[in-house]
Amino acid sequence: MSEDVSVIVVGSCMTDLVSQAPRLPKAGETIHGHKFFIGFGGKGANQCVQAARMGVKTAMVCKVGKDFFGDNYIQNFKNNGVSTDFVEQTEKAATGAASIIVNNTVKTIFNPAPAVTDLQSDFYKASDVFCCNESEAELLTGMAVTSVEDASQVSLELLRRGCGSVIVTLGPQGCVVCQSTNVVPKPVPTTLVTAVDTTGAGDSFIGALAFYMAHYPTMPLEEMARRANLVAAVSVQTVGTQTSFPFRKDLPNELF
Ligand SMILES: Nc1ncnc2c1ncn2[C@@H]1O[C@H](COP(=O)(O)OP(=O)(O)OP(=O)(O)O)[C@@H](O)[C@H]1O
Ligand SMILES: *[C@@H]1O[C@H](CO)[C@@H](O)[C@H](O)[C@H]1NC(C)=O
Ligand SMILES: *[C@@H]1O[C@H](CO)[C@@H](O)[C@H](O)[C@H]1NC(C)=O
Repeated sequence: MSEDVSVIVVGSCMTDLVSQAPRLPKAGETIHGHKFFIGFGGKGANQCVQAARMGVKTAMVCKVGKDFFGDNYIQNFKNNGVSTDFVEQTEKAATGAASIIVNNTVKTIFNPAPAVTDLQSDFYKASDVFCCNESEAELLTGMAVTSVEDASQVSLELLRRGCGSVIVTLGPQGCVVCQSTNVVPKPVPTTLVTAVDTTGAGDSFIGALAFYMAHYPTMPLEEMARRANLVAAVSVQTVGTQTSFPFRKDLPNELF
């Protein structure tokens, strides 16, 4: 791998097979659909693509099959300038673990998706930034999260479990940031936009955050979160997941 990779994502890489139909078929029933498309998805890959599109050297660590979808996905990474040095192809169905040696000073963003109720304590301790949405925060802590105030409380609890910093995303309300260096939860609101499809908003947010952490390591986390909110806000204004993720050229200069 080239030395200048700044963001490395370890995560899932999925091919989305999307059919549009008037309703769900019943068991065994065949119905007519009117549109079908194949899209690139997977939370890890989405985050990686958003970071790359913003202009940072990015690499993906994942395994795909030795098949048409796998070949296509690798091409998609290449089209987005994502290094595929650690994308492997396997003949077996199960995805294995890829091992990677990283500089131990490296900064880690952990996104607990899909969330489990009994997340091992090491995951919190290893997270420089633990970033989750409302429902994930709720599952992990048992605390209800429906408001900025709830998110502030839950971020304190997650911080107590050993994370360096916590970000709880709140859809149109932006996010709450809380850091172990200054244990006061800070709401970071976002701009009002007309959302047409919020699928992948969380991944856009995290990909953008990874870009800022890699590119502007001394920028305050709250400022990174404020800018990541604005990137994700662009992504909710058009349909699709990666199709809605903005490129650097689509974003205002103030975000760079
Ligand atoms: N309606 C919206 N208007 C403006 N920004 C939004 C909206 N929805 C989401 N965002 C932005 O996206 C970020 C992540 O959204 P959210 O908390 O809904 O994540 P998520 O539930 O993980 O998303 P998904 O699961 O769809 O990827 C928010 O912090 C915010 O910056
Ligand atoms: C690890 O990364 C930091 C920050 O980029 C750098 O200062 C340090 O020299 C690196 N250490 C090694 C062993 O590569
Ligand atoms: C949080 O993210 C998960 C995917 O990881 C998603 O299933 C869930 O709907 C999201 N919750 C909210 C409140 O958006």
